[in-house]
Amino acid sequence: MSELAIAPPRSVRAPDFEGPMIRCDGVTKTFEEGRLRALDGVDLIVEPGEFVAVVGPSGCGKSTLLNLMAALDQPDDGTIRVAGHDLGHPPDLDHFRAVDVGLVFQLDNLLPSLTAVENVEVPLFTTERSRRRRRRRALDLLDFVGIADRADARPPQLSGGERQRVAIARALANEPPLLLADEPTGRLDSATSARVLDLLESLQRERDVTLVVVTHDPDVAERARRVLHMLDGRIERDVRDP
Ligand SMILES: Nc1ncnc2c1ncn2[C@@H]1O[C@H](COP(=O)(O)OP(=O)(O)OP(=O)(O)O)[C@@H](O)[C@H]1O
Ligand SMILES: [Mg+2]
Repeated sequence: MSELAIAPPRSVRAPDFEGPMIRCDGVTKTFEEGRLRALDGVDLIVEPGEFVAVVGPSGCGKSTLLNLMAALDQPDDGTIRVAGHDLGHPPDLDHFRAVDVGLVFQLDNLLPSLTAVENVEVPLFTTERSRRRRRRRALDLLDFVGIADRADARPPQLSGGERQRVAIARALANEPPLLLADEPTGRLDSATSARVLDLLESLQRERDVTLVVVTHDPDVAERARRVLHMLDGRIERDVRDP
């Protein structure tokens, strides 16, 4: 058995809100002073525990939508609720980003001067005051993603797949009920990408984490229970059990 079969270090927190995990109503986002319409009235409901893939041609608005769900940017129009928070008026953005949502970016975004374990510790600074417990938790997470033996390596010394797994461990640090991932297997070979997918799938299946994964990778879309096909800033098709 691979290390990925190891039971997760702690269970995911029970949701402390009612209703969908994500709700978008008429979400519109423009750039270039309104000339470029990246999102054009997106309506979407994602229930807790769903595994949703978002696909579509380059430039159709996938990353823009994910960034809005993560409260990294604001829509021009429409409303977004995530994990019970209205992202137009979130009570505490830092807390939301640190605790309610885990992010895995298109590029892994690790801090190159910190070691793998230190990168995973970063989000724990908002929630865990004990240095010893932060370290133990971060090591458990690296173990969970199967790279505990690389804990002291820095990102430039890690392979693309190892970096992506550190990024996933970091995203899980505070047990968020929602994981948003932008091309998590984009730069990985097929064996490594299958490993990362196994990991994501086990999170969804065993820990009830809601997954929204932007991807060009047909293997990811195949594993998802629901595929959103985007085109020109809209959800053109919403296919369940593809
Ligand atoms: N910060 C920005 N400033 C200006 N234009 C932007 C910005 N972010 C995105 N865009 C534009 O908005 C549109 C949607 O971009 P987005 O990054 O969401 O596409 P995508 O579907 O993720 O594409 P890819 O598959 O290539 O990652 C594109 O035309 C892009 O050029
Ligand atoms: Mg993108």
